[in-house]
Formats: sequence, structure tokens, C-alpha cells
Amino acid sequence: MQLQNPTLFRQHALINHEWRQSAHGKRIDVTNPFDQTIIGSIPDLSADEVRDAVQFAKDAQKAWADKTAFERGEILHRWADLIDQNIDDLALIMTTEQGKPLKESKGEIGYANSFIRWFAEEGKRIYGDTIPAKHAKLRHIVLKQPIGVCAAITPWNFPAAMITRKVAPALASGCTMIVRPDSQTPFSALALGELAIQAGLPKGVLQIVTGEAKVIGSVLTEHPDIKKLSFTGSTQVGKLLMAQSASTLKKLSLELGGNAPFIIFDDANIDKAIEGVMSSKYRNAGQTCVCANRIYVQRGIFDEFVSLFKQKVEALSVGSGLDDPDLGCLINEKAIKNTQELLKDALDKGATLITGGTPHPKHPACFLPTVVTDITSQMRIAHEEIFAPIAALYPFDTESEVIAQANDTPYGLAAYFYTDNHARSWRVTERLEYGMVAQNTGLLSTEVAPFGGVKESGFGREGSKYGMDEYVTTKYWCLDIGE
Ligand code: SIN
Repeated sequence: MQLQNPTLFRQHALINHEWRQSAHGKRIDVTNPFDQTIIGSIPDLSADEVRDAVQFAKDAQKAWADKTAFERGEILHRWADLIDQNIDDLALIMTTEQGKPLKESKGEIGYANSFIRWFAEEGKRIYGDTIPAKHAKLRHIVLKQPIGVCAAITPWNFPAAMITRKVAPALASGCTMIVRPDSQTPFSALALGELAIQAGLPKGVLQIVTGEAKVIGSVLTEHPDIKKLSFTGSTQVGKLLMAQSASTLKKLSLELGGNAPFIIFDDANIDKAIEGVMSSKYRNAGQTCVCANRIYVQRGIFDEFVSLFKQKVEALSVGSGLDDPDLGCLINEKAIKNTQELLKDALDKGATLITGGTPHPKHPACFLPTVVTDITSQMRIAHEEIFAPIAALYPFDTESEVIAQANDTPYGLAAYFYTDNHARSWRVTERLEYGMVAQNTGLLSTEVAPFGGVKESGFGREGSKYGMDEYVTTKYWCLDIGE
């Protein structure tokens, strides 16, 4: 990697502002998912070393909380400025370790930074309440206070944004934070850590611990000094973390799997709907929790939709993220294998392949953007989160039928629909059992709105004014003024 600012490429954990190796010397290699070359390595910290990080975070918390929200906001803004100044390097690091096209990496850095700037300001608006009392001498006051030491376990699909949307509200509210990035994409996190130091964040306020998920996960869930854990990842792992956190009754935010329905009614503008599906389905090569997973098209426009959609999908370029195609590679060989198995299961059971269907002939780490129809409920693809560039298309007849199908899943993260009918807009939005609903657009993520799910997609909200609630406690003060 030819970085303009080589200090951003850190291969150590960040503990109390020191770049640390593990005492036992064990390291984990990090590979470029496009060509499997080793790009660096990170320390495999022991449980005791992670506990050290927790202690430093605890020691730093009170002084950080004693600063004003304006002082904390100033540091966060400086961090965001440095991220902007280093965006080309940060994007290069991200594409090299994650595989997404450079333009998407740059987009993600901007998205990541939007959370820092947003919460730098939101920290100034952590309001409490005064409540009218029933008795003349009583006063009831509500204070919002930082919850304390927090932890975040973050995924590989958005190696920067999933960190800042947890770290920024924590820091803005006066909490300290320990982050465990995914071992496949740690360098984006460590680069953000370096810039946080340069921005003047005090020692111990942000720690970045690297190593095995099991070891670090156990410490972060079971440590009594950690008061809050925020996790983005699979529902399966989310349930495990929740069970492990029970012994210390930690506050949790869990942003888990999705199985997003994308419904196109026959009164919708078909070209706009195709544009929306393209951006929802193929963003990050289909590796997002909010990707269109089941695309329902009303029967009257189904054949036209399939033919127009196929043309668009076949025009997508695929290759190394560094060449900035439309789609980069998948995260690892296992992801390619899972995608092949999911597709084979569907085709063996009678699905029709419209286009794609294999890894790219020249770039085996990339999967061709794929479209399938004739899906039945016997197929795994109808129920599982695809997390790959496969668009599964389903015809439907009526509004009530499609709503029932859309809700027939344990997941409830994002749902999309296209219609220009006003009354239907309300009906469909109210009936979809999802934490987020997008109408006539395929992209809904923004720092200003609450991101999060219902059902087995988890709980808690990130971004917006609601994102701050996750990092503060509500203290009720009952005061007898005695006169
Ligand atoms: C995710 O896939 O977990 C996050 C996607 C987003 O923020 O848009």
C-alpha cells in the first residue's frame, strides 16, 4: 500500500495511547480478499491484555465525563477533520483489506465521518427534564449521565462506519470505549485510532483491541466494569453475546441480520424501482444487512422488470476494488463457497438462473452479479440472509399477500417498497414489521435517522438523536426543598 501518510498503517493494538504487541508474541495475518496476499498482521491479545484495556478505559472515564460537551465536541470535530484530510489513504486501506471498490470506500469514510460530526453536536443536546410535582415542596428532575465504560464489537462489511456510529455517541456523551474490530479488517479501525490520538483524544478514552473473537468477546461481555456493549453482526452471534452479557446485566445494542423485502407495485415508476434495487442489492457486493434480499414484483410488470433488470445487471463491472469497478470481491473464500451452495440449493430445487451464477472467470474472489426467479419456500435462499450479489425475484398478486410474505421471517431490519399510491404508502409502512422502511428509494442509511431493527434483527438505534440514548442513563432526582 502506497500511503501518503504511512503512520496510518498500524499493526498493533491501541491501549492507553500506546501501540502494543501481545506479550506472548502471537499474531493474526490479515489478507487482501481479492488476491489473498498478506497485507500485514495484528496482535492476538490475551484476555488479561484486554482486561488491561478495560482498566485504562475505566481510569480515563471520569475525567472525560467531567469535560463539557463542547470540549468533547471540539476534539471529535478535529478527529473528523483529520479523517477528511486523510480520506484517500483511509479508502486505500479499506479497499485493500475489505475488497470494496475505492469509490465505495471513500463513500464509507464520508459516512463514517458524518456520525462523528453529528454526535459532536448532539452531545450538546443531551437534555434532562424537570417534571411538575404533585406537592408544593417537591421537585422532580431528570438527569442524563454517561453510562460509563462501553465496548463495541464491529463487523468487516463496513470497517469504519460501524465503528464511528458507536464510538462517536459514546465519546460525545462522556463514555470511554473499547473497540474490537473484525480480524479481517482491523487496519481501518487502527488508522482511525491513530487519527483520534492526533486529534487530541485523551489517553484511555478510545482503546482498540485486536485478536480472537471468542477471547475478546468473553472479556467484553463478562467484565463488570463495562456497562454497555454495542454489536453489529449476525443474529446467531448477537444471541450468544446477549447470553454472555446476562451475568453483568449490561445494556446492549444489537444490530443483527436482515432479510429485507423489496416490494415493487405495478403503479411504481419501473426505471426508478430498478435503480433502487440496483443500489440496495449490489452495494458492497451484496454484503450489507440492509441489502434487498427478497425482491417482490407485482405480476403485471414482472416479465418487463426481469428483462430490464437483467440488462442493467449484466452491465455491471466486477473486479479488484483498486480498479474501482461496480462490484468488488467477497470477503473470503468461505463467502464464495456459501454463495455457491445457496445458489445450487435453489437451482437444484427448480429456480431459474437469469444471469450470473458463478464466480468471475478471471477473478475467482468475485461473484458475478446474479439474478434468479422461480423461488419457492423450500429453498434456503427464501429464508436466509444472502450476503452476496444474488437478486432473488418473486412475482406477487395482491398487497395483502405481499405484506404477509414480507413479514414471514424472524428478521425485521429494513424493508423497501415502490408505489406512487398515497393511501397504500401509509398502509404498507404501518404493516411492515421492520425497524426501517424506505419508500421509492433503495438507500436509507444516514446519520440523521435512527438505524436499527425489530424482532431477531435486534434492538437499539444508531445515528440520529435516538443514537445518544444508548450511551446515557436516566437519573431521577427527587428533591424536597423543605418550605
Ligand atoms: C450494515 O450492513 O450493517 C450497515 C449498513 C448501513 O449502515 O447502511
